[in-house]
Order: sequence, then structure tokens, then C-alpha cells
Amino acid sequence: MTIIIDGKKIADGLCEELSQKISILRRKHNIFPCLKVILVNKNPASQIYVRNKQKKAESIGINSETIVLPDNISENKLIEKINELNDDPSVNGTLVQLPLPSHIRAGKVINTVNVEKDVDGFHDENVGRLVKGERNCLVPCTPKGVLHLIKLVETDLSGKNAVVIGRSNIVGKPMLYLLLQENCTVTILHSQSKNLAEYCSKADVVVAAVGKPNFVQESWIKEGAIVIDVGINSVNMKGRTKLIGDVNFDRVKEKAKAITPVPGGVGPMTIAFLMINTVIATCLQKKVEISDFMSLIPVSTVQGTNR
Ligand code: GUN
Repeated sequence: MTIIIDGKKIADGLCEELSQKISILRRKHNIFPCLKVILVNKNPASQIYVRNKQKKAESIGINSETIVLPDNISENKLIEKINELNDDPSVNGTLVQLPLPSHIRAGKVINTVNVEKDVDGFHDENVGRLVKGERNCLVPCTPKGVLHLIKLVETDLSGKNAVVIGRSNIVGKPMLYLLLQENCTVTILHSQSKNLAEYCSKADVVVAAVGKPNFVQESWIKEGAIVIDVGINSVNMKGRTKLIGDVNFDRVKEKAKAITPVPGGVGPMTIAFLMINTVIATCLQKKVEISDFMSLIPVSTVQGTNR
């Protein structure tokens, strides 16, 4: 029987545990974690993502505010706003929803966020720490959530072949380093790669983050592989909009040992790990022992290995 990984249930469980830990922070330490989300575009998908992040934060006791800025805002004004949040000690996490309008340099904006408040883990310094396997860095939420799901199916990933399809800074590249820390042999495939089926057919773990509906076929997948679908593609089917993943779910599930559905797989995990990152950032800033919070997550995904 194939395991259909219920990301929503797993994410709800993590958030439930986290909310108990947040109430301890509030009661015992008088600390109130606070997340600010900046939205600078009218992209409907971004608006939904941001609303879901704020709703989840509020529901588990994280103070949260979405700051909506006009999409013709200048880069300087946006940077000014981020610096304001950097200087505000009551703010523990700042997230700038991507994509940004094309007149704004996303790299410059991301690197303006204080490294310790960078709950997305996108700042160059946090990326560098992840690459080097250092401790206590903030790691991007989606790959962290994906690794959590994989490890619930298979605790020891040493020596496993992993294929990541997609080389984005948000998912593909950080996923590579997290899987490497787990001692996987990792291959990244992308739009210019040849023979995708050949690489995938040797993989024990496949992570698809390519943004192409139903891209991954069952003929590519090894019997018994773990298949994680990060894609969220909006498609029109008989006049109705439907969300589907990068993996041909109905067919691939017949071969995989475990597979995530879309929706209800990786999406809720991204939000759960944003909440976890916000609490980790808060604890690091307030010099509160964070080991309590780490128990929620497989250790190597937060601590790195220094190898
Ligand atoms: N846009 C799509 N995914 C993400 C994410 O994880 N963080 C931010 N800030 N923007 C996104």
C-alpha cells in the first residue's frame, strides 16, 4: 500500500505542538514572537499565501501583521521599511513575499533583512551557513518541510540517491544541501538537463519543484521511491480552476512507496516551518534555549553537521 503523505495533518500536528511551546515562551519568559510579512504585489497567489501565513501565525499565538505596499513603491522606500522592522526589537521575523515587481532588485531587498530576522532563510549569510552545514542558521521553509516529510517515511537517508527537479533559490538549491547533510547522493535536474527519466529511475527520493503540471511520469519512477511534489500549478479544467502538482499523482502513486498529494502535501508544511523558523529566530534573538523547539524537527535539518 502506498503511503499518501498527509502534509496537512502533519503540519497541523507540528503547529499544535509549537503553539504549546509559544504559550510557555509567553508565560515563563514574557516573550511574544512577532512576524511581519511584506506584500508588494497584486499577484492573487501571493495574496492567498500571505493570508494563510498570517492566519496560521495568529492561530498559534504568533503576533503577525501583513504590510501591504503599493507595487510602484521605489526600491529605496521598501528598503527603508525593512530597516524600520530591523530596528524594531518587538519584531522577530520579517518576510518579503516574492516575487517582487521587476523594478526592484530582489537580492538587494532580501539582503537588507536582518540575518537574525530572516525567517525565509534567503539572506546570503544564511544561505552560506546552510551550504557550510553550520549550526543555528535559518533554513528556507519549503525544503525544510520537504525533508521533514521524507524523514517521517525513512529516518536514515545515508547513501540514498536523491533527485531534485528544479534549481530555484527557494526550493531546489537549499534542498540539495539539506539532502547532502543527510548523506544522500544528490542530483539536480533542470530545464537544460537531458535524460531526466534515466536519473529519476535510479532515485530513492524524488523532489519535484519545477512548476510544470503532471511533468513527472510513472515510467521515470523506481518502484518503492519516495516522491515529494512541491509544484502548485493552477490549471483550467472544464471551465474550473484546479490546483495540480508537478507529478502525475494518479499514476505515480501506483509505483511509489510514499507520495505527497497536491493540495494538502508540501504547502501546509511550508507554513508550519515558517512558524517554526519564527520561533527559532525569536529564541536566538532573546537568547532563550532553543533545544526545546528543536525536538519538533529532525535535528540535522536545523543544526547542520559542520562537515
Ligand atoms: N514566494 C513563493 N514561495 C515563497 C517563500 O517561501 N517565501 C517568500 N518570501 N516568497 C515566496
